[in-house]
Amino acid sequence: MTARKIIIDTDPGQDDAVAILLALASPEELEVLGLTIVAGNVPLDLTQKNARMVCELAGKPETKVFAGCDHPMVHRLVTAEHVHGASGLNGPVLPEPVMPLQDEHAVDFIIDTLRAEAPKSVTLCPLGPLTNIALAMRKAPDIVDRIQEIVLMGGAYFEVGNITPSAEFNIYVDPEAAAVVFSSKVPIVVMPLDVTHKALVTKPRNDAFRNLGTQVGTAVAQMTDFFERFDKEKYGSEGAPLHDPCVTAYLIKPELFSGRHINVEIETKSDLTRGMTVADWWRVSGREANALFIGDVDADGFFDLLTERLARL
Ligand code: RIB
Ligand code: CA
Repeated sequence: MTARKIIIDTDPGQDDAVAILLALASPEELEVLGLTIVAGNVPLDLTQKNARMVCELAGKPETKVFAGCDHPMVHRLVTAEHVHGASGLNGPVLPEPVMPLQDEHAVDFIIDTLRAEAPKSVTLCPLGPLTNIALAMRKAPDIVDRIQEIVLMGGAYFEVGNITPSAEFNIYVDPEAAAVVFSSKVPIVVMPLDVTHKALVTKPRNDAFRNLGTQVGTAVAQMTDFFERFDKEKYGSEGAPLHDPCVTAYLIKPELFSGRHINVEIETKSDLTRGMTVADWWRVSGREANALFIGDVDADGFFDLLTERLARL
């Protein structure tokens, strides 16, 4: 089986970090063409630094990392230090990155890569606000039909919002960008809070990371020790929800997940419900389905996969 070509668009973020580690630990299934970085959890200067630190933690300093947009299309940047800490990667103490940042802008890398690779041979994996993806589509409309699939973390329906009562963070930060992506007619798989809140790092699961006895296992355990505070306090969760690694795990083992092909529209007009993903789960709107909206995961299978792959690094 040839590895699937992917571009990970990301705003690390502890959960982004675990998603990147899982991808870099799975070369048989995934060929990571590059990481494109966006402002989100913390500003761009930190997300691009965190991405490089994670690649070096994985022992993959040859990974190409491209800095992208430092603010959303319309709104002012909203960040989430209250969840991820001031650095965006609080928890482990990791060395300053040595590997270089690529010169090319992330948006141009996305465009150039999609034009250079065979049509429908590259999957985009957004783990943060969709600014880079939307601007690439706007700047080069010809690339839209060349995208194989978009598998993203974002949105919510039954779980409602985590940054406002009605919106999930990635979509809330740049709803206009999300509207561009969801109306693009590219095949989309959505990992909303509805499923990511079922992928919780309980203590036994975090102990399994720590008991790997490796730098990666220890760092991931320290990341989730820090990252879990927000969700434990807000939701009374049993542990940190591994939002973004659901994207990577889906690409490796889709059978762990289940969902419905439905219509998903993005609220961009109302301040009250800005960034809400209006997911027609019960198919009452008559609007055309534009996304596979994932609602469930085999959590034990997910963590078995994640732990086995992290042990490789
Ligand atoms: O709402 C969760 C999402 O927002 C995750 O991708 C997290 O990393 C933040 O970007
Ligand atoms: Ca993220």
